[in-house]
Amino acid sequence: MMKNNKKTKAQEEQKNIEQIKIFDTTLRDGEQSPGCSMNLEEKLRMAEVLQALNVDIIEAGFAIASNGDFESVKKISTILDGPIICSLSRASHKDIDRSAEALRYAKRKRIHTFISTSALHMKYKLQLEPKDVLDLVIDSVSYARNKVDDVEWSPEDGSRTEHDFLCRCIEEAIKAGASTVNIPDTVGYAIPDEFHDLISMIKNRVPNIDKATISVHCHNDLGLAVANSLSAVQAGARQIECTINGIGERAGNASLEEIVMAIKTRKDLFPFSTNIKTEIITRSSRLLSAVTGFSVQPNKAIVGANAFAHESGIHQDGMLKHSSTYEIMTPESVGLNKSTLVMGKHSGRHAFKCKLEELGYHVLENELNDAFQRFKDLCDKKKEVFDEDIIALVDDGISDTGEYIKFVSLSLQCGSKGPAKASLVLNVMGNDKEVNISGDGPVDAIFKGISTLVTGDYDLQLFAVKAVTEGTDAQAEVTVRLVENGKTVNGQAADTDTMVAAARAYVVALNKLITKREKTSLYANMMSK
Ligand code: KIV
Ligand code: ZN
Repeated sequence: MMKNNKKTKAQEEQKNIEQIKIFDTTLRDGEQSPGCSMNLEEKLRMAEVLQALNVDIIEAGFAIASNGDFESVKKISTILDGPIICSLSRASHKDIDRSAEALRYAKRKRIHTFISTSALHMKYKLQLEPKDVLDLVIDSVSYARNKVDDVEWSPEDGSRTEHDFLCRCIEEAIKAGASTVNIPDTVGYAIPDEFHDLISMIKNRVPNIDKATISVHCHNDLGLAVANSLSAVQAGARQIECTINGIGERAGNASLEEIVMAIKTRKDLFPFSTNIKTEIITRSSRLLSAVTGFSVQPNKAIVGANAFAHESGIHQDGMLKHSSTYEIMTPESVGLNKSTLVMGKHSGRHAFKCKLEELGYHVLENELNDAFQRFKDLCDKKKEVFDEDIIALVDDGISDTGEYIKFVSLSLQCGSKGPAKASLVLNVMGNDKEVNISGDGPVDAIFKGISTLVTGDYDLQLFAVKAVTEGTDAQAEVTVRLVENGKTVNGQAADTDTMVAAARAYVVALNKLITKREKTSLYANMMSK
């Protein structure tokens, strides 16, 4: 009885804790940064992970920016049924129409419209007078509000906007129907105390501010995006815009994992909660790195390879005596299950499926068969199979790209004596083709071999290798980025042999490129008819 009462009290307390909404813009502001572009399939995979992470809002794209952006907002709206799906629009009817159209099938939808309000941006970028900008704020928000119930408005370069004008614009945006007002530090110029005061000033001076949620959107040019966002929460902001791994324009956006774990770890200073399932953080971070080829630095907070590693003797001694001596959060709380060696060559299909579900994957039957086969192959090569190995194996395998080219075999001769030689067999459109070629090192030989067997106008832009787990038998995860006529594709593959992973990743990228070519010519044919 006592126990029950206690639980009810705890639940009651939990209910009274204010929520901070997490607005994820990895697929919009993040994807906008050089080298981070994703294709439709990659965006869908990321969107599914963001749903598993339980973010409140996903900014899925800028619908008018390109057909690709429109399609991804539309597809994400159709497939996901948890978070609010949002599309960005400038202060124009055309943009808002396009967002509304892309969001048509979303269960819960939001239009985010913005316009610059700083004197600098109005004069040089927009070449508009403040009164015209104010008219556009009212017009765009009212227009968007006629299309959807949930409208967010942002004054771009808000942190450098003159205060009277900023307050006026916010007041009018709320009157016109915005239920969220987002204050961006567009150029990452603010300092935490100053940004705190800006949010307090808005709370004190905008008469109808109680009718909207205050959101913040901070860039990281001075390395202060997370600090500024957290300061804003202490001043009254209740939504934070952020990205996985902090990717975004220039130095990036505020990093989701840092914000969420700061709120969770420092309850004494942040008596708030978020809906984020923090155990999915590592998986989200790794998927984004794999998909974009953008690895995080080893010492990156929360998701860096060293974030939970204790090297010095004094620290290790303290850890052994009591982990809280040097660990302010557990690795398990962010989904790092280092200690669990779970699966091995005796594990069956059912156990493998349960493991995938535990890791947050709900795969289709054919994907399961394929992943299980690759898991078995991996067990033959690797003594210990960790959760991270399984994640890499599944993430690399889920793809709706056509398999025009298949990797068949590779043997190599390399070392310090003479050029490296590769003997490579690929199956190209159903026919096995072989090449024997030498190169300046094994990677060069393999890549030369592949481009001899599959000719085209593509260039290699990135080759990145990452060890999935520790030990000399760890799987290597390789990302290869190819560019052809301005179109970029990333291929990933994991294998215990780094060179085999490199060849497979190149083949994955080529298949994506060919899929893209097919779609482009199909589209061109459709247009010419
Ligand atoms: O940084 C920025 O100002 C933006 C807005 C569109 C919110 O990304
Ligand atoms: Zn931004």
